[in-house]
Amino acid sequence: MEKIVAAFPKGRLFEQTIDIFHRAGILPEPIKPESRKLILETERFKFLLVRAKDVPTYVEYGVADIGVAGDDVLLESRAQVYRPVDLGIGACSIVVAGLPESKDFYNSNPTSLKVATKYPKIAKSFFSDKGVEAQIVELYGSIELAPLLGLADFIVDIVETGRTLKENGLVVIDYIRPSSAKLIVNRASFKTKNKDISYVISKVEKLLKGENKWPVKQP
Ligand code: PRP
Repeated sequence: MEKIVAAFPKGRLFEQTIDIFHRAGILPEPIKPESRKLILETERFKFLLVRAKDVPTYVEYGVADIGVAGDDVLLESRAQVYRPVDLGIGACSIVVAGLPESKDFYNSNPTSLKVATKYPKIAKSFFSDKGVEAQIVELYGSIELAPLLGLADFIVDIVETGRTLKENGLVVIDYIRPSSAKLIVNRASFKTKNKDISYVISKVEKLLKGENKWPVKQP
C-alpha cells in the first residue's frame, strides 16, 4: 500500500498540528519541536517537516498528499489545493497596522501607500480593491520595524495576541480578514488515494468534534 505523505509546518503551527494528528491517532508519537529530523515514517504515513510557507507548494505539486497551512500562507501562495477541514488552530487576523499618528493619513483616502509585508499578494490585492496603489516593501520577518524606521508607512501582517504590535507602539488601522489553519489535500491524491485520505479527514474531524476518546488506537 502506498503511504500517505503529510507536510507539517514548522514554526507557530507546529506543536498544535502535531498534537491534533497525534490525538487523532495518525501520528503515533508526538514529534519534539527540537527534533532536526525532517522526514518521519510510520507504516502508513510519511511526515515531512517543512517551512510553513512551503507547505502549499509541497501539496500542490503532489510531493505531499496532505498538509497543514494557515489561510495567510494559502492566500499568499494561491496554491490550487482542496481545504476540507478547518483545524481551528493558529487563529489570527490579517490586518493593516501602523503608528497611531498615521491613522488620519490612512483615512484621508490616499491614492498611494508604502506598505511593508511578508504577504505582498494579499496586501496588493486588498489595496487594489480599495483603489489604492500599494508600493510593497517585501520583508521576511520583524515586519513591525518598518514603520518605526520609516521604511514604510504601514504594514500588512498577522496579529495573534496583539503583543508584538503593542510592544512596538503600533496599532491596527484596518482589518483584512481572519486566518486559521486548514488541512489541505492535493487534488489528484484526493482521487487516487481517496480511501486513505478520507480516513485521515474523518479521524481529524472526529477529534475536532470531540467524539474521539483519549488515548485513541493507532491505525
Ligand atoms: C508573526 C507576525 C507578528 C507576530 C504577531 O511573526 O509577523 O510579528 O507574529 O503575533 P502576536 O500578535 O501574538 O504578537 P512571527 O512570530 O511568525 O515571526 P517573524 O516576525 O519572524 O515572521
